[in-house]
Amino acid sequence: MTVGVRIATIALIVLTLGLPLVAGAYPGGTPNFQTDAAPFCAGCHSSRQESAFAGAPPGMAAKQLVENKHLAVIRAGQGGYELLTPAQREELIGHIQALDAASTVKLNTLPSAKPGEVVTVTVDVTGGAGPVVGIALVDMAHRTLARPIAGAGWQVVDEPTVLGQDFKEQTEWLHLRPAEAMRNLSFVNVKGIRSDPVAGEWGRAQIVWKLRAPAAPGTYPLVAAYWYGSEKASPLGIIEDPIRGKLLRGGYAGGSGRVLFSDAIGVQVR
Ligand code: HEC
Repeated sequence: MTVGVRIATIALIVLTLGLPLVAGAYPGGTPNFQTDAAPFCAGCHSSRQESAFAGAPPGMAAKQLVENKHLAVIRAGQGGYELLTPAQREELIGHIQALDAASTVKLNTLPSAKPGEVVTVTVDVTGGAGPVVGIALVDMAHRTLARPIAGAGWQVVDEPTVLGQDFKEQTEWLHLRPAEAMRNLSFVNVKGIRSDPVAGEWGRAQIVWKLRAPAAPGTYPLVAAYWYGSEKASPLGIIEDPIRGKLLRGGYAGGSGRVLFSDAIGVQVR
């Protein structure tokens, strides 16, 4: 074995062993990434909005929609779902559809601001399987083009206020980022979220951001992106990984994650 081949082999082993750990971190949010995020990172997640792929290569939108990427796999009884009876699969789909219908994201702010003015932006989310949901401010309601809101000229001036399901303020996740690195992030995780599609009870959270408006007059976009899981909320959303033989919750690579966008708002800076 040449040195090159040996390094490549070791790299492959490290990659293969590392992958489940990396993937396993996501259902549960991003416990170790305290930084700005954009929806492109969540390639595994599926979408409820076809418009989130406007202009993308043909077929991409259809492939990423919940119906095709997630529910069709359950209906077909593939990817671990063969462990559920057809009746259980239908029940699971019912739970997922109820959760999706109850999962919303709404952004509120004033329609205009003075150049450089600090404005308050409030994002309310509901639903999400929990225990974690993720929320960010971005510039477009688009899975492949959206970027963190700073890219559009808005500056996050302070640590966002995160109110969990109990409407108590949470700082635990944000404070894993050192204070000297500044905690004025445009992406946050909210912990302690719980939804129960059987009982019809849904999670909720609110994030309040302070943003400094751009200096030049114009119309500037604001959109909230919402990352949530769907299957962990269902008692049937527990499947066995056929390869690793472990019980996994939420389908992992099965598209049970979601990315949902709020309506886009154009704020007039003048
Ligand atoms: C390897 C596939 C994969 C990638 C890549 C991925 N996710 Fe996920 N993520 C999932 C799955 C699957 C779930 C949903 C589990 C469920 O159905 O309950 C999920 C759920 C979540 C949740 C909700 C957590 C919870 O407790 O349900 C958040 C927040 C999240 N992902 C954020 C992200 C972010 C941010 C990125 C990019 C940095 C990302 N994900 C990349 C697979 C992935």
